[in-house]
Amino acid sequence: MTAVGIDAMEVWTGKLKLDLAETFAPQKGDDPGKYTKGLGLHASSFPDAYEDIVTMGANAAHRLMDRKGLEPEDIGRIDVATESAFDNSKPVSTYIAGCLEQVYDGDFHHANKGERKFACIAGTQSLDDAVNWILAGRNRGRGALVVATDTALYARDDAGEATQGAGAVAMYITEDPDLVELSTEQGYGSADETDFLKPNQQFPSVDGKRSIQVYLARMREALEDFESVSGKSHPDDYEYIPFHTPYPGMVRKAAVLGYRHMIRDTEIEAELADQIGTQPRREDFDSAEAFEQAIRDYMDELKNTEAYREWYADTIEPTLDISSHVGNWYTGSVHIARMSALRHAVENDVDLAGKRMLVASYGSGAQAEIHAETVQPGFEEEVLASNIDEQIDARYDLSWSEYEQVHDRHNHEKSVELEPFTQPDSEFVFDGWGPMNERKYTYVE
Ligand code: CAA
Repeated sequence: MTAVGIDAMEVWTGKLKLDLAETFAPQKGDDPGKYTKGLGLHASSFPDAYEDIVTMGANAAHRLMDRKGLEPEDIGRIDVATESAFDNSKPVSTYIAGCLEQVYDGDFHHANKGERKFACIAGTQSLDDAVNWILAGRNRGRGALVVATDTALYARDDAGEATQGAGAVAMYITEDPDLVELSTEQGYGSADETDFLKPNQQFPSVDGKRSIQVYLARMREALEDFESVSGKSHPDDYEYIPFHTPYPGMVRKAAVLGYRHMIRDTEIEAELADQIGTQPRREDFDSAEAFEQAIRDYMDELKNTEAYREWYADTIEPTLDISSHVGNWYTGSVHIARMSALRHAVENDVDLAGKRMLVASYGSGAQAEIHAETVQPGFEEEVLASNIDEQIDARYDLSWSEYEQVHDRHNHEKSVELEPFTQPDSEFVFDGWGPMNERKYTYVE
């Protein structure tokens, strides 16, 4: 069967930064460790006054097209995944195509465009749509541009305020990709949930603690569903496991559950039995409560074993680095986790070509999806082309009062003028509103 997957990826972070330990924690009267250690977050990205989901997405896509030498006619569809859309009819992909047409000779008149919504999992769903379109043979030799772009803002003083972020990921999906091939096996865990939603409102209604439980429950279902088609997973099967990362602490909780599941009835469980016993089995307990308590106790011990710590350090920790500096990018989050893993491999000479990753996506509301990806030979060149580190380092560090102004500037219910903190350079910028209340964009040299 033809290999289909991600040929190239580019990211664009919002150009402003809120430091959680230095700026956020003191204002909240909190110990910085709550953010840096508890949530695992150092900073969040925010868009400057002239940035939004369109500029970030278009700038990431432009960088990708330039680097790969692509013209509009090479692209047969543009799908944008976002949960920060500002229009219930006209999709963000049309705005992004409009931006790109300002800088290319050709146009996207024959590209299918759309917008995908299912909270943070929509980025992976768009990727799937693109893969399926190519596998169905409907692409006429063209690739698909998938853009996951979000400005993840919470209402001021909401518990989620510490987990904000803004940025975009652009991916080019083709046959014979240079970066990763996607497995046709997939697993889903999906249920009608109200953990996090935005009923026609910009800032989410969130039940934070419940959202953690829903994430874990749907992820577990997705893994079982994935195993029903791919066979049982073993921790050694995957070099990295990028998860949707609303904040790294969430992934810490998911990882130990996943590891416990994967080691059950394996030599790893047997080897650990002397130290921590074997995993509790439901049939050995009279009540569900007693069983669940025994599982919690087992996991507390499991997380402190050397076997788990090593696995976590090798397989999970490397996926969290970018997220810990930029916060939650919603639809882009799992894709920066993949990028983080690939970058770690290049920096540490991990021989990754031909090896597999397990990619675990999640969207509130709620659905998890799990698939495998095989890293392609030559992936290093793709990864080295990314300038994400320079982008992260170049962000303007906001003071508290500047942060408050930026939050207001991007609040759709307020109309706040704000002098930019940075200078646009060879990029698309937001340029005000047109006569039909459409947003307008120009390219600044
Ligand atoms: N040093 C070290 N650790 C500390 C600490 C300190 N000084 N103080 C607190 N901590 C730890 C806590 O023990 C806790 O860790 P555990 O969960 O492992 O116990 C962690 O820091 C966070 O502390 P709290 O639980 O007290 O934090 P909180 O009540 O302010 O809220 C939150 C945390 C619920 C995640 C909140 O930020 C939130 O609502 N976020 C938005 C929702 C979200 O991201 N949910 C994730 C799943 S849903 C999803 O994934 C979709 C999506 O993208 C939104």
